[in-house]
Amino acid sequence: MNVFWAPSGELPREASTPEEVARFVVEAAVNAPSVANSQPWWFGSGDGELSVHADAERRLPVADPDGREMMISCGAAVFTARVALRYLGLVPQVRLLPDPDLPNLVARITKGEPAPPVEYERQLFAEIPRRRAHRGGFDARPLPEGLMSVLRDEAAREHATLRVMSDDRQVGALAAIVEAADFALRLDNARSAEQAKWAPPPGSRRRDGVPATAYPAVAEQTEPSFPSRDFAHGHGWGLPLAGQGAVPRSAGTACVLTTAADDPEDWVRAGQALQRVMLLASSCGVSTALHSQPLEIATLREFIRVQLCDGACPQMVLRLGTAGEPAVSIRRPVDEVLL
Ligand SMILES: Cc1cc2nc3c(=O)[nH]c(=O)nc-3n(C[C@H](O)[C@H](O)[C@H](O)COP(=O)(O)O)c2cc1C
Repeated sequence: MNVFWAPSGELPREASTPEEVARFVVEAAVNAPSVANSQPWWFGSGDGELSVHADAERRLPVADPDGREMMISCGAAVFTARVALRYLGLVPQVRLLPDPDLPNLVARITKGEPAPPVEYERQLFAEIPRRRAHRGGFDARPLPEGLMSVLRDEAAREHATLRVMSDDRQVGALAAIVEAADFALRLDNARSAEQAKWAPPPGSRRRDGVPATAYPAVAEQTEPSFPSRDFAHGHGWGLPLAGQGAVPRSAGTACVLTTAADDPEDWVRAGQALQRVMLLASSCGVSTALHSQPLEIATLREFIRVQLCDGACPQMVLRLGTAGEPAVSIRRPVDEVLL
């Protein structure tokens, strides 16, 4: 199950010129998850390479002053680009943050020798447009047997650790921290205003931000409670709830994705690991909910690091489970991001 491995063979016909390959890859990469769907990236193509750049103007200055979440988002786009290249039968060679003078140059990706994709790579590719961030509770059904152990291995291949909160006390503590963070964010005018900027109203023609088709109108309760962000900021926008809103659903399997250190390269690696985990989970019918609320508040992030992650740096709180209600997201067109 290695995205880099494949036997030698021929390129498929779908994209053959360098321009077609770049367009095909970027069309896939923009499907990556990003903080508040800010899509904080642009791509360059030429001289046989594709470059991935962080668009610092799209960083969330209040929630993400260091650009950590921006870099995680770009890392997810880098992983998606890698999968698309593998689907085309090219073996990507990736250099992360290759130029210290250009901190927003996230990756240079060269297209190596042709080699046909293996079945696992085709499966991941097929999930790129299907995978969506879930918001709310999950069915009571257990996850497919062995899935968490496979997902842990997937994260490790990207130099990150997926820590499953295995006992009820850990899960309860993590839920309480997410809840505290969500309360704190709602009380903080600067943070709420920033989040509102990235939540277009229903009917908006914007192609970024979290649209009302991506979350339920009434926040779904989970047991224990992992509250979702109020993207509708009190307007009641959102999809009608599919289930019985009053009855709490399962919170699913709660995890924290961590890295050993906390530098921009670790953030990009965390983003690659995140997308790898989410795509593989999605290929098994498992959805992922993301909670970055507590990681945007330094004291809560530190508490999670020390108390729940053995001192490793928490980059994302995830919950995995089966749900079945598909969210609809939006993206900027490729012409806007491929320069
Ligand atoms: C760094 C990062 C932080 C995120 N934090 C949250 C969060 O706190 N709550 C949430 O509902 N979704 C969160 N998301 C998911 C994004 O909102 C989602 O990826 C984006 O809206 C695009 O939608 P899609 O993933 O369904 O395509 C986060 C994603 C990333 C990459």
